[in-house]
Amino acid sequence: MLMNLLAFLVVGLIWEDVVVVVVGKECTNTPTQLASHTYRYEYLNSHNKSWKHQVLMLSHDHDHLTPTDDSAWASLLPRKVLRQEDEVGWMMMYRQMKNQVGKGQVTGTFLNEVALGDVRLNADSVHGQAQQTNLEYLLLLDVDSLVWSFRKTAGLATPGTAYGGWESPDQELRGHFVGHYLSATAQMWASTGNDALKQKMTTVVSILGECQEHLSDGYLSAFPSEFFDRFEAIQPVWAPYYTIHKIMAGLVDQYVLAGNNQALKMGDNKHLLLAHLFDKPCFLGLLAVKADELAGFHSNTHIPIVVGSQMRYEITGDPLYKEISMFFMNTVNSSHMYATGGTSVSEFWSEPKRLATTLQTENEESCTTYNMLKVSRNLFRWTKEIAYADYYERALTNGVLSIQRGKEPGIMIYMLPLGPGMSKATGYHKWGTKFNSFWCCYGTGIESFSKLGDSIYFEEAGNNPGLYIIQYVSSSLNWKLGQIVVDQKVTPVVSWDPRLRVTTTISSKKEGSSSSLNFRIPFWTTSSAKATLNGRDIPITSAGNFLSVTKKWSSSDVITLELPITLRTEAIQDDRSEYASLHAILFGPYLLVALTTTDSDLKPESDSLSDWITPIPSDYNSNLISLSQESSHNNFALAHNSNSITTIQFPDPGTSNSVFATFRIIPTDPKTRVSSNNVIGKTVMFEPYILPGMVIIEQGKEKSLGIVDSVKLSCDSGESDSGFMAATSFKVNDGISNYHPISFVAKGVNMSYLLQPLYSLRDEHYTVYFKLH
Ligand SMILES: *[C@@H]1O[C@H](CO)[C@@H](O)[C@H](O)[C@H]1NC(C)=O
Ligand SMILES: *[C@@H]1O[C@H](CO)[C@@H](O)[C@H](O)[C@H]1NC(C)=O
Ligand SMILES: *[C@@H]1O[C@H](CO)[C@@H](O)[C@H](O)[C@H]1NC(C)=O
Ligand SMILES: [Zn+2]
Repeated sequence: MLMNLLAFLVVGLIWEDVVVVVVGKECTNTPTQLASHTYRYEYLNSHNKSWKHQVLMLSHDHDHLTPTDDSAWASLLPRKVLRQEDEVGWMMMYRQMKNQVGKGQVTGTFLNEVALGDVRLNADSVHGQAQQTNLEYLLLLDVDSLVWSFRKTAGLATPGTAYGGWESPDQELRGHFVGHYLSATAQMWASTGNDALKQKMTTVVSILGECQEHLSDGYLSAFPSEFFDRFEAIQPVWAPYYTIHKIMAGLVDQYVLAGNNQALKMGDNKHLLLAHLFDKPCFLGLLAVKADELAGFHSNTHIPIVVGSQMRYEITGDPLYKEISMFFMNTVNSSHMYATGGTSVSEFWSEPKRLATTLQTENEESCTTYNMLKVSRNLFRWTKEIAYADYYERALTNGVLSIQRGKEPGIMIYMLPLGPGMSKATGYHKWGTKFNSFWCCYGTGIESFSKLGDSIYFEEAGNNPGLYIIQYVSSSLNWKLGQIVVDQKVTPVVSWDPRLRVTTTISSKKEGSSSSLNFRIPFWTTSSAKATLNGRDIPITSAGNFLSVTKKWSSSDVITLELPITLRTEAIQDDRSEYASLHAILFGPYLLVALTTTDSDLKPESDSLSDWITPIPSDYNSNLISLSQESSHNNFALAHNSNSITTIQFPDPGTSNSVFATFRIIPTDPKTRVSSNNVIGKTVMFEPYILPGMVIIEQGKEKSLGIVDSVKLSCDSGESDSGFMAATSFKVNDGISNYHPISFVAKGVNMSYLLQPLYSLRDEHYTVYFKLH
C-alpha cells in the first residue's frame, strides 16, 4: 500500500505543475458554483450585472491556486504545451508516466462485456419499451438542426433551424448533445439494427467531416476555439473540454459500435494524452487515503474522474486505482446514496449520512446515475461481487427507468425529486421538452436508453468459458464465445404473487461445447428460491452468490429460476437521531413510493411488513372508474380534493390530477361484481384511488360530499335531492389511472397509502421516505 501511495504521489508531482493550474480552481472543497451546469446556464443568460460580478469575484476568491504571477503558470497550460512539444515528446512523457506507475500487474482476469450488437431486448418488456421510446426520439431528431452550429462555426451554409435549450446557437455548451447523439445512435443501432437510424447517424458524421475539412486545422466543434483560450485564461466559459470530449467519444462509438471508419479518422491520438491533464490529485488523493471528503464536490464532474482512474487500473494494473474506486463506490453506497441508488443534490454531494435534510425536487442528477452505473459495472467485472450487480440493478431500475415520461419520446428529466409530495413535473427543471432542453441529462439519457442491453451479460474466456447473467431483463444473447444462444424470459413482476420468474432457454450452436452459466441470486430474495434444469430441481445457492450450471449444452436446455421477492424498509442514510424514523420501502429492486402530496406517516403493526403492506389484488383494475360531465363544451371529471369532492377539467392519464379523478367502486353487496360496464343501477361505494380504505359520503342537504375512513354510507341516487341528482349526473368511464401491477396499500397513522414503483410515475405526486411510528 505504501509503495502504491508513493507511486501515486509521484504522478501527482510529475503532473502537478501542468495539472493543478488547469483544474485547481474547481478542485477544492469550496468549489465555484459555476461547476454546476444549471448555475452556469443561469449565469450566462442573466442580465443582472451586479449578480454576475459577485459570482465572478466569488469564484476568484475560491481559486485553489491563486496565481500571483500570470506568466509563471501560463506557460504550463496544456494548449501551449501541445503547441510547443512535438508528438514524439508527448509520447515520451506518456511512457515515462506510465512506467512510473505501471509496475504492478493486473492479477486475475476481468470479465468482459459481450458485444451490444449480440444482445436483443424483448420488445414487450419494460426495458424493451423504454428502448423503443428512445429509438423514436432519436428518429425524431433532425440532422440539419443537430449540426446547425457546427456548420455555422465552420462557415458553411446552415439549412434548417437550430435547436433550442442548451444546443441553441447562443449557448456555450452547444454541440455537446450531438456528441451524445453519436454515441447513443451507435449504441441504438447496435441494439436494434434500425436502418433509418443508421442512415441518419452516418449523415451526421459525414456532415461533421465536411465541417472539419472546411476548418482545415483539424478542429471540430459547434463553437469557436476561442472558448478554450478563455477556459485557460480562467475566464468564464461553459465547459468546452466537456463538450469536445462528448464529440470525440461519439466518434469513437460510431467507429467501434457501428464500424464507421470516417469517424475514426476524425480523431487524433495525441489528444489521448490530454486526458491525463484532467487527473485531479486533490480529489483522487483524498480517496486514496480513504477519506470521505465528497461533500461540496460537484458530483457529475468527479464521478467520471473515478471512471477514468478505473481505466488506468485496467491498463497499468496499479492496484491503488482499484482501491480508489472501491472506496469511492463503498462511500457513495454507504453515506451519499438515496434508496433509488442515486446520489447528489442540486448537482453536488452533501455531508455524508445527512441526507434527510437534502430531500427536495433537485435530487439525483440523472447524469450521476449514468456515471455510477459505469463505476459499479467495472467493479463487478473485476471482482464478480454480486453487491455491485445488485447496485447496478437498483440504480438502473429506479434511477434510469424513472427518467422517461412513460412512452413519450423525448420527455426526460434532469433531476429526480425525492422530497415529500413532490412530482417529476414540478420543481426547477421538471420534465424537459423534445427540442428545447438538451440538458446534459438529455445527452446521458439518450445513451442510457440506447444501451439497456449492456451489463445484462458478461463473459469470461477460458477452456470452459463462463457467462454471467447479472440482470433479469427479457432478452436474447447470441453468445459467440460459448457457441450458444441464450434466451432469457422474465415473467412481468406483480405484487400479488411476489416472485421473479425467469426462464432461460439455451441452444447450442456447436455440438458438445461446454460452458458455465452463472446466475445472480440477488440480495433481496430468500432461501426459498428455486431453480430447475430441464424440469428437475437443482440445488440453489444463497442470496448474494451465483448459481453456476456447467454443461455440454444441447439444442434446447431450459433453466428456470423462481426468486421470492421480499418487501423491506431501508433507513435513510442519516445518522442524526431525529431522522432515525425515516425509511424507504422497497420490493426487491423496486423503490415503492406513496401517491400523496404530503409527508407520509406509517404505523408498522408488526415486524412482518406483509402484515401492514398488502398487495392490491389483481382484479381491482376492473373496478376503477372516472366520472365525466359535459358542460359548456368542456369535459369535467369528478375529483376529490383534500376532504371534499369537486369537478375539474377531465385529466389525461399520467397527469397529477389523474389520480384525484379515479375511484374504485365497491359493491355494498360483496357478492356482486362491478365494473365501469355494469355499474349503472347498482349500489356502490366510491373509494378515492389514492385513499385506499376511505369512501365518499353524502353529508346531507346543501352539504358537499365528504370522505371518511369508515365503510358505512353509500350514495343511493334514489333518495337524494335534485341538486344532488344533478351533481351526480355523470358518464361512467374506465378509470383514468390504473393500478400498476406492482401496487400495495400501506397502513398509515391516520390513513392508508397507495404504493407504486417510482419508475412507473409520470406527473403524479409522491413521497419516497416515510416516518415509521
Ligand atoms: C441582481 O442580483 C442581486 C444579487 O447580487 C440581487 O440582490 C438583485 O435582486 C438582482 N436584481 C434583479 C433585478 O434580479
Ligand atoms: C451497499 O451497502 C449495503 C448496506 O450496507 C451493503 O449490503 C452492500 O453490499 C453495499 N453495496 C456496495 C456496492 O458496496
Ligand atoms: C392524525 O390525526 C390526529 C388526530 O386528528 C392528528 O392530531 C395528527 O396530526 C394526525 N397525524 C398525521 C400524521 O396526519
Ligand atoms: Zn446532467
